[in-house]
Amino acid sequence: MERNRWYKDMVFYQIWPRSFKDGDGDGMGDLWGVYEKLDHIKSLGCDGIWFSPIYPSPGADCGYDIADYMDIAPEFGGMEAFRKVLDGVHQRGMKLLMDLVVNHTSDEHEWFQKSRQRIEPYTDYYIWRPAKPGGKLPNNWDSNFEGKAWTYDEVRGEYYLHLFAIKQPDLNMDNPLVREEVKKILRFWLDMGVDGFREDVITYISKAEGLPDDHLFPIYKGMPKYNHGPHIHEYLAEFKRDVLDHYDCFTLAEAPLVWPKQALKYIDEEHGQIDMMIQFQCQTADCLFTDYLPTKFSLRRMKKAFSDWQYKLEGKAWNMLYLENHDHPRIVTRYGSEKYQAESAKTLAVSYLFQKGTPFLYQGQEIGMTNWRPESADMYRDVQTIYNYNHSNLKKPLQVRLEKMWRSSRDGARSPVQWDSSPNAGFTTGTPWFYVNQNYPEINIEKQNADPDSVLNFYRKAIALRKSLPVVKEGIYKEHFHSHPKQYIYSREMPGQKLLIVCAFSEKTQKMKLPKGFDLSSAQCILHNYSSTDSLTLQPYECRVYLW
Ligand code: GLC
Repeated sequence: MERNRWYKDMVFYQIWPRSFKDGDGDGMGDLWGVYEKLDHIKSLGCDGIWFSPIYPSPGADCGYDIADYMDIAPEFGGMEAFRKVLDGVHQRGMKLLMDLVVNHTSDEHEWFQKSRQRIEPYTDYYIWRPAKPGGKLPNNWDSNFEGKAWTYDEVRGEYYLHLFAIKQPDLNMDNPLVREEVKKILRFWLDMGVDGFREDVITYISKAEGLPDDHLFPIYKGMPKYNHGPHIHEYLAEFKRDVLDHYDCFTLAEAPLVWPKQALKYIDEEHGQIDMMIQFQCQTADCLFTDYLPTKFSLRRMKKAFSDWQYKLEGKAWNMLYLENHDHPRIVTRYGSEKYQAESAKTLAVSYLFQKGTPFLYQGQEIGMTNWRPESADMYRDVQTIYNYNHSNLKKPLQVRLEKMWRSSRDGARSPVQWDSSPNAGFTTGTPWFYVNQNYPEINIEKQNADPDSVLNFYRKAIALRKSLPVVKEGIYKEHFHSHPKQYIYSREMPGQKLLIVCAFSEKTQKMKLPKGFDLSSAQCILHNYSSTDSLTLQPYECRVYLW
């Protein structure tokens, strides 16, 4: 029977819970806060929520280090608050996705504590190796966050592998017992009524046989040996066959360094093991591989990333569309312009919301939040940022180092959501766990709710249009004038309906390019961010959507 792929009609909203909304006044966002704000999310036209991890965790990586997969952290309100939120979500006709983080656990997880003492059956739950002769590390892999990927454990007398922070030991997915644990976790949440999972760095779970050295990759040495590893498709198929296929749910896989051809092996609608994929190509228009190697923003690179995925997945798989999440600095600061904050936030919205796929918004994106800027490096909280700051550009002047970090750090997008102009942006009545962006009196949800021309109301209009026009779901995508450095122009076409989307990426005015066969005299401009659309001159960061 053909599956009902309901996610294709949806728009999702990502909540990074610590900074969303504090409901109990302890300074940390929580599920009580989420419950209060469900109507805000619904009012955007979003019908699904993805929660970054809300499980008990020591917080070494803000929740991506899980100490118990089958509970909700007390600081977020525990199970009681979660059930209330889940019901609230379903009552509003919305869906809820949990974050499944099973490449690694916290080192404080009971499994790791037992594994390091060789207590059965946990002895081989993790990837343990003795030192190589001469006391050398088991291989030359780097961790993504903190130096080498191996840390010596005194209790066990061996090294354990951690592809991320030292407090995030990697699970040994080759052990069938570990895969059974994953299935238990999946069933636990699905039985409770959640609608699917975002699967954290899931393409890392199968490591190359024998964990060989890697001599090829310049950054994060080792990645080719653990990304898309030898058993990845087999393990994902097993989770699907044994659990996911028995529920009406969907899965979204996070995949660092993946291109469409490889992605299709995971998400091809006929043979894939998962439904959609978070790719990173769209995040590298202003950096090399990672945000921590910043370059100048290139619109062409952004267009190439968008178009590659649109063209290559057409008819075979479904795109996940996004510009922001908790792992990247704010998009207005990166790809847009803080000077033209509102205009560029709207243009960025249009640049992706009319593509084919399922869009995701990240909290605060709906008002065009900009990067939080620290005054000094000791204000950073993120483990990856702190390591990078202390280990790179050491010879550069302090101001240069701070500037680079401001452009790169994940903390830029982790400051609290700006709800209103009251103290702490209305995020908390207590002392916020993290700094609030100082521009909150100007950029906040309350103010934008009251302004029909705000970024927030623009998102509402754009999402409503997307949902009302079949061509956005069905139409064929085509990019025009690819080499143009300052305009992104694409069309969507199906029998009887056609769209042309024009986005200007410049602080200067420019002449609009018009592809052949698009006669504006018979079109209606259904969405725009400047009051007049009569002329063919585009204002700074102007965008227009034409309908035939
Ligand atoms: C993913 C998460 C990120 C986390 C990392 C390790 O990339 O999105 O926030 O730090 O995995 O779990």
